[in-house]
Amino acid sequence: MMKTQTADTVIDAKSFEAIAHLAYRESGLQLAVEKTSMIQSRLRHRLRALNISDFENYSAFVCSDEGRQERRHMISALTTNVSHFFREKHHFDRLQKCVTRDFLPRLRNGDRVRIWSAGCSNGQEAFSIAMSLLEVAPDIGEMDIRILATDIDSTVIGFSKAASYPDRLTSGIPNELLQKYFVKRTEKEETVFCANEKLRSLIRFNELNLLSEWPMRHSMDVIFCRNVVIYFDVETQNRLWPRFHQILHPDGILFLGHSERIADPQATGFETDGPTTYRPMNASGQISLEPRGQ
Ligand SMILES: C[S@@+](CC[C@H](N)C(=O)[O-])C[C@H]1O[C@@H](n2cnc3c(N)ncnc32)[C@H](O)[C@@H]1O
Repeated sequence: MMKTQTADTVIDAKSFEAIAHLAYRESGLQLAVEKTSMIQSRLRHRLRALNISDFENYSAFVCSDEGRQERRHMISALTTNVSHFFREKHHFDRLQKCVTRDFLPRLRNGDRVRIWSAGCSNGQEAFSIAMSLLEVAPDIGEMDIRILATDIDSTVIGFSKAASYPDRLTSGIPNELLQKYFVKRTEKEETVFCANEKLRSLIRFNELNLLSEWPMRHSMDVIFCRNVVIYFDVETQNRLWPRFHQILHPDGILFLGHSERIADPQATGFETDGPTTYRPMNASGQISLEPRGQ
């Protein structure tokens, strides 16, 4: 019989290595030895949930065939899901210029526009994109434009689908937009803001591991992949860039997080087009609004 796990169960070096190897293989996440205590505390509730006494037994279980389902919980526990509404506002300003100058004429011609929030966490990025679109064109939901928002973590996808944000998570939303696009409610004695139907109908949330096959059939016009690859090593990042290039429309845009860069953009077919902004090389220039190389 398993012993009851105590709050201070520590991870041994061998179990750490096995878990780190598994997390890397499954999701690209790099677990640094310096972060051992954080990783330990993030995983302790998994030991409790499974009534497993120590990390040695946990790592053996999660690495086994029977542990397949637990791997998803483990990845969910290990991912960092911090996000904010309108994080790095300049990307949303840039998006609005694209909508006005390029997307609306195309949409009014019956064309399709697709925007991908890759690594969307709790959905703040996708809802910020949706608000940006609606602020430019309130009738945009009637056209063929959709936001695909994906994450490896099923917990955040469930949260995003519910679209109900506690007051403390709404700080990035300007008051005017909060009034316009969210309904204030009380849930379990807490004030929450629920995204209204106009916002929700623009977005499809789905679970997707960026390292696995992508099921999308159409090209993307804009990809937001911000504050995700920072947790990957260069090798994993370098495997991702050509895939983004391949799925991006020739005039598309890729936004990365403020501390993320494509190490060698030219080698992967990209050129920089503003701060942490990339576009495929040899694009027609239709939606480039900034002088090149900024
Ligand atoms: C820090 S959040 C970034 C959220 C949002 N993009 C932003 O910038 O605010 C990083 C997200 O990437 C997700 N993630 C990590 N590895 C992933 C992978 N292999 N595939 C898909 N999503 C992944 C995590 O689950 C987490 O929700």
